[in-house]
Amino acid sequence: MMSRNNGHKPDITPVISLERVSKLYRQGHEIVHAVNEADLQVFPGDFVSITGRSGSGKTTLLSLIGGLTTPTAGRVGIFGQALESLEDVPLSTLRASRIGFVFQFASLIPTLTALDNVRLPGLFNSAQVDPKDAADLLGWVGLAGKTNSFPSELSGGQQTRTALARALANRPDLLLADEPTGNLDVETEHEILTLLRDLNRQRGMTIVLVTHNPELARHGTRHLIMDNGNLTEVHSEKVLSLG
Ligand SMILES: Nc1ncnc2c1ncn2[C@@H]1O[C@H](COP(=O)(O)OP(=O)(O)OP(=O)(O)O)[C@@H](O)[C@H]1O
Ligand SMILES: [Mg+2]
Repeated sequence: MMSRNNGHKPDITPVISLERVSKLYRQGHEIVHAVNEADLQVFPGDFVSITGRSGSGKTTLLSLIGGLTTPTAGRVGIFGQALESLEDVPLSTLRASRIGFVFQFASLIPTLTALDNVRLPGLFNSAQVDPKDAADLLGWVGLAGKTNSFPSELSGGQQTRTALARALANRPDLLLADEPTGNLDVETEHEILTLLRDLNRQRGMTIVLVTHNPELARHGTRHLIMDNGNLTEVHSEKVLSLG
C-alpha cells in the first residue's frame, strides 16, 4: 500500500487549516492553554490520528476544527473557508452537509430507536435520512438486528457504533471522531478502527481520530501528538505504513 500522507501538496485546498490557533480557558485565577498556537494542514484523504494524555487539549482541538468553539487566537480554515468569516447559519450548513462528528461520549437520544437516532437530523443536520439508508448504515456497522432497539438496550460499543452510523448519515467529506473506542474491548475497538480505515481507503474520507491508545495511531496515515496544548506531528515511516 502506497503512503497517502499528503504533507506537501500546496496546490490542493486543505480540508483543515490551522494557523497559530490557540484556545485559552480561564479557571479562577489560572489560565489554561488548552491549545497553544497549533499549526496544521490536513488534506483530502488524510487519516490523522491524535494521541496525548488526558487534559492535553485533544477534544478542544477537535471542537475548534469543527467550529464548535471559537479560538482565542489564530485562524481556522475548513474546506478553504475561514471559519471566522462564516455566520452561524452557513457554518451550521457546512457542518451538516460536510462534517460528521463522533463525540467522546456517545450522545444518542434515549427516547429514539437506533434507526431513528441515525435518521434524525442529528445535532447539526436539517434533512432527514431515508430509513433504508439508515438501516444500511446500521447494517454496515454490524447492527442490522438492532434497528429497533433503544440506546438503553444497546451495549456501550453498540451505542458507539450507532453514533458512528449517525455521523456517516450525511455522507460527510470529513469525519471528526473523539475517542470513538474509548471504553470498548480490544476486539470491538479493532472492528471500529477497521470500519474507519475502510472509509478512508475506499471512500477517500478524510478522518481525524482522537485516541488515548497509541497502538491505534498506526491505523492513520499521519500521527500527531498533543502535549499540554502543544500539537506536534510525528514523522515516522512506521506511522505511514498502513499495516
Ligand atoms: N469549557 C472549558 N472550560 C474551562 N476549561 C476547559 C474547558 N474545556 C476544557 N478545558 C480545559 O482544557 C484542557 C484540555 O481539555 P480537553 O478536554 O481538550 O482535553 P483532552 O485531551 O480531550 O482530555 P481527555 O483525554 O481526558 O478527553 C484541560 O485542562 C481542561 O480542564
Ligand atoms: Mg477529550
